[in-house]
Amino acid sequence: MLKTRELDKKFGAVHVTRQVSLKLERGERRVILGPNGAGKTTLFNQLVGELTPDSGSVHLAGEDVTSLTVAQRARRGLSRSYQKNTLFDGLTVEENLGLAAAVHTGHATRLWGDSLARPEVREIVQEVAEQVNLMPFIHAKVSEISYGVRRQLEVGVALATRPLVLLMDEPTSGVGPEMSKAFHDLLNNLPRDLTMLIIEHDMDLAFDVADTITVLNYGEVVFDGAPNEARGSSLLREIYLGSWEDA
Ligand SMILES: Nc1ncnc2c1ncn2[C@@H]1O[C@H](COP(=O)(O)OP(=O)(O)OP(=O)(O)O)[C@@H](O)[C@H]1O
Ligand SMILES: [Mg+2]
Repeated sequence: MLKTRELDKKFGAVHVTRQVSLKLERGERRVILGPNGAGKTTLFNQLVGELTPDSGSVHLAGEDVTSLTVAQRARRGLSRSYQKNTLFDGLTVEENLGLAAAVHTGHATRLWGDSLARPEVREIVQEVAEQVNLMPFIHAKVSEISYGVRRQLEVGVALATRPLVLLMDEPTSGVGPEMSKAFHDLLNNLPRDLTMLIIEHDMDLAFDVADTITVLNYGEVVFDGAPNEARGSSLLREIYLGSWEDA
């Protein structure tokens, strides 16, 4: 469903991704782990088209999308949520979801009140709000909801474009342990045919949600395999300095 071949990117002298090759099957849930500065976000930026690799290629559902723009890739089913907040603060949860759905269904117009009233848009809003547990907050403004709920909404906005592949950059960053657990459940309950690539620092999430794990270190894939193999890897333990002993 999503494949990269030897993605390479340098920022000046810094080699941020080194020959990164990944392959995700349809419905696979893969977590990318790696220390700060390992190149995880830079890899995502190349997948979605915000950054052009120096060399290598990106393939989505069998098509080479390396030279396509962010919008073109999004239309083909690649959607992402960000490490930083990208929501409209003055709008409600419903309106944020509706705008994303309206853009996706081609119903976005200047009169966006009209766009949100379209049945196709309303249907997506309802479905996504249920998937990411946002019904209790549906009429609240983003400025009024908690940080954790915002993170849920970010995933909802990405889902409202009905993606084939969902990329999430640290969806639980800054969220407390309790909320983080709820987040794992939410991800586990998403449709099984949705392909997910999730950047995480939280080992628990990785082991809870992932079918497969990729570890990046200094821009290089140093591990690619099943979660139980990752647990046993001494190399990974070294990279994380034992931080997952109790994971
Ligand atoms: N636009 C840029 N120009 C120059 N260097 C950059 C740029 N973006 C990122 N870098 C550098 O590339 C390296 C990888 O950064 P990246 O943000 O991909 O890491 P990360 O794995 O996502 O880290 P974190 O866990 O902190 O989010 C870092 O050394 C960073 O300083
Ligand atoms: Mg990052």
